[in-house]
Amino acid sequence: MRRKLAAGNWKMNGTTDSLGVVAELADTHPDPSVDVLICPPATLLARAAGHGAIAVGGQDCHAATSGAHTGDISADMLKDAGATYVITGHSERRTDHGETDAEIAAKSQAAYEAGLIAVICIGETLDEREGGTTLTVIDTQLAGSIPETATAANTVIAYEPVWAIGTGKVPTTGQIAEVHAHIRSRLSERFVDGDGMRILYGGSVKASNAAEIFAVPEVDGALVGGASLKAADFSPIISALENA
Ligand code: PGA
Repeated sequence: MRRKLAAGNWKMNGTTDSLGVVAELADTHPDPSVDVLICPPATLLARAAGHGAIAVGGQDCHAATSGAHTGDISADMLKDAGATYVITGHSERRTDHGETDAEIAAKSQAAYEAGLIAVICIGETLDEREGGTTLTVIDTQLAGSIPETATAANTVIAYEPVWAIGTGKVPTTGQIAEVHAHIRSRLSERFVDGDGMRILYGGSVKASNAAEIFAVPEVDGALVGGASLKAADFSPIISALENA
C-alpha cells in the first residue's frame, strides 16, 4: 500500500507571516491519514519544522555536501534545518537554472545520502505534448534523473506537465492516467520496489479539481504550488486526498 502524499511547494513566496499557514494546517489536520508536506523557501524551513504532522522539505539542494558554492544549500543543511524531503528537478529549476537530468540525479543522490526523500519532478512542455513526444520525454527524464539507488522509501516521482504549472490548465483525467500508468510501468521494470514508489500529479491542482484527479489510477497525491500558499486552499486538497 502506498501512503498518499499532499505536498505544497511555496516556491519563492513567504515570509514570517506565512508560518501561520503551517500552524493552521497542523491544527486542522492533527492526525492525517495521508502524508502532508510543505516546502517553504529555505529562509523559513527551520521555523516551519516541528508543527504537528506537517513535514517540511527543501525546494532544491546542491549535489555536494559542502564547499565553495555561494548561495547554494546542501541536502545535509536541509536535513539539519528539519527537512525530511527535498524537491529535485522542478521544471522551474530545469528552465531558470538549466538543470540537466544528470544534475538532478546527482542532487537526488545527495538527498538520499543525507537521509532525505527526493521528490523528483518530470514533465513535458506544451510543444512536446502537441508534438506527440510526451512519453518519450518522460522516458528520457525518468532514465536520466532517477539514481540507481532509488527505492520506494527514498523517492517520490512528481509528474508535472510544464504547461499545466501555474496556468490553470489541467490535463484530462485520461491524459493523467496515461502518463501515470506509463511511469508506473517504467518504475516497476527498473526498480525491485518500483510498485511502491509514489507518483504525484502536479500542475494547477486546486480544491475544485482535486477529487477528480485523485480518483485517477496511479495518482498517489499531488504537488501543489499556488493552492498551497493558504491553509483555506490547501486544507480541502488534503481532505480530498484523505477521502480518495
Ligand atoms: P501550481 O504549481 O499548483 O501553482 O500549478 C505546481 C508546481 O509547480 O509544483
